Order: sequence, then structure tokens, then C-alpha cells
Amino acid sequence: MLEKILEVSALAGEVVRSGYRQKIEIEYKTNDSNLVTEIDKKSEKLIVDYISKNFPAHGILAEEGSDKNRGSEYLWVIDPLDGTTNFAHGLPIFSVSIGLMKNGEIIAGVVNDVMRGKIYYAEKGAGAFEGGRKLAISKNDTLKHSLLVTGFPYDIADNPGHALEIFVDFIKRARAVRRLGSAAIDFCFVADGIFDAFWEVHLHPWDICAGKLLVEEAGGIVTDFSGNETDIFTKQVLASNRLVQDEIVSVIKPYFKA
Ligand code: IPD
Ligand code: CA
Ligand code: CA
Repeated sequence: MLEKILEVSALAGEVVRSGYRQKIEIEYKTNDSNLVTEIDKKSEKLIVDYISKNFPAHGILAEEGSDKNRGSEYLWVIDPLDGTTNFAHGLPIFSVSIGLMKNGEIIAGVVNDVMRGKIYYAEKGAGAFEGGRKLAISKNDTLKHSLLVTGFPYDIADNPGHALEIFVDFIKRARAVRRLGSAAIDFCFVADGIFDAFWEVHLHPWDICAGKLLVEEAGGIVTDFSGNETDIFTKQVLASNRLVQDEIVSVIKPYFKA
């Protein structure tokens, strides 16, 4: 199965790469910040057609509307272009993220970091890799020495979810905080020991699925803001190297007390 995901991820990555800095159609979804381009749709169609041809009974859940066979044993969870705003503005940080679940458990995940030509992949129980290189989370165990990353939801103006207060808090407590604009790449960089932790509110299953497995298979942990286990439908995501987990939870959790 991993071979198949790698194959379709590479094909979708080519579609995305070929649209980079080209004149492409852009539409607004819910507001002026929430974009979808013709390339998001083209990438999703390629992936969905590939799965439908190779695995017609499998379920599919993808960001741009594909939703079928949800009762199937297998479910493919797809973000055909993660980092659309970056892509639309020509900032070369975006990815294709494909996760595969079996009976509700993530069994494989691939994130194609398109412009850097890096493919991150993991299989349940077999580790996480980039190319042939095995990934491992960082060894830093203090928040004040941490490099963190976060993201902000498109509807932050209407539905802030304390994202800004938490951001300000961590800016003061950590070594630095980044905002790359592709959640799937944020997860990869935690898995690769670059970021010590990544948190974000209001993510979607397709932002999370592949990245969660990558972090876990690299030795990290993915929880909600109280440190509880999550699934791909959980709206709060905290991915860390485990060592800074308790310190981070102690900062974020109080924001969500009733
Ligand atoms: C977005 C990116 C971004 C995150 C947003 C996501 P999209 O995904 O992952 O980093 O902050 O919350 O919606 O819309 O570009 O696929
Ligand atoms: Ca996304
Ligand atoms: Ca997307």
C-alpha cells in the first residue's frame, strides 16, 4: 500500500509543481483569506481517480469535496494541496498530504514537500522516513530552548479559539515560534527533529492524518491541548517530541478551562 501512496503522491506533486507561479484560477471559499485554486482541484481529481481505479471499494475523504465509501474498511484522507495561500502567492512552502486508515487506525502516511522535492512517509510500526533517512524527534527537553511552529485558521477573525493569545504567550516563553503555512509540513518538521512542537486550533482531518502518523513513528506524540489522545477529527492538535509536552500543555490548557 505504501508504494501506491508514494506513487500517487509523486504524481499529484508534479501537478502542483507545474502550477507554481503560473497564471491559475483562484476562487474564494468562505472569506477573502480562504482560497482554492484550480490546482487544488486538479490534484484532488488525480488522487481520487487513482484510488477509484486501483481500490474501487476504498473510502475517500478529501478537502475539496470528495467523500465516498465512508463505511469501507479503508479510508484515504487527502489534502491535495496543503498551503494553498503560500502556493497562490508564490511562496514555495506547500505539500500534498495523503493518509490511509484501516478500521479507524492510521496505517500509512505520505507528505510530499513539493518544492524541496522531499517525500516524508511512515507506516504504522515501521518508522518514519524522508528518502532513505529515518526520522527522529528532537532531544530538547525545555520550552525555553524550543523552536515551535503554529498555524492560524482562516476564520480566525470570527472564531479565534485563543490562537492569538497562545501565540503571544509562546513567543515570550520559547526560543522562537514560526508560522510556515502548511500544517502537513509542520508535522514533518516535528518528526524530523527541527521543531520541538507544533500546535494549532481548528485543523481538519486532511491536515492531520499523514502528519500525525509521521510524528508518532518518529517517536513523538500527538494530543489535544490537555494532553489527551486524539483522532484526526479532534480540533486541537499538539504534536511534540514528548520531552517538552508537559510544559506546553501547562501553558495551553488553562486557555480552555470552562
Ligand atoms: C491550511 C494550512 C495552514 C493552516 C491552516 C490550514 P490549506 O491548509 O495547513 O498551515 O494554518 O489551518 O487550513 O487550506 O492550505 O490546505
Ligand atoms: Ca490543509
Ligand atoms: Ca488544502
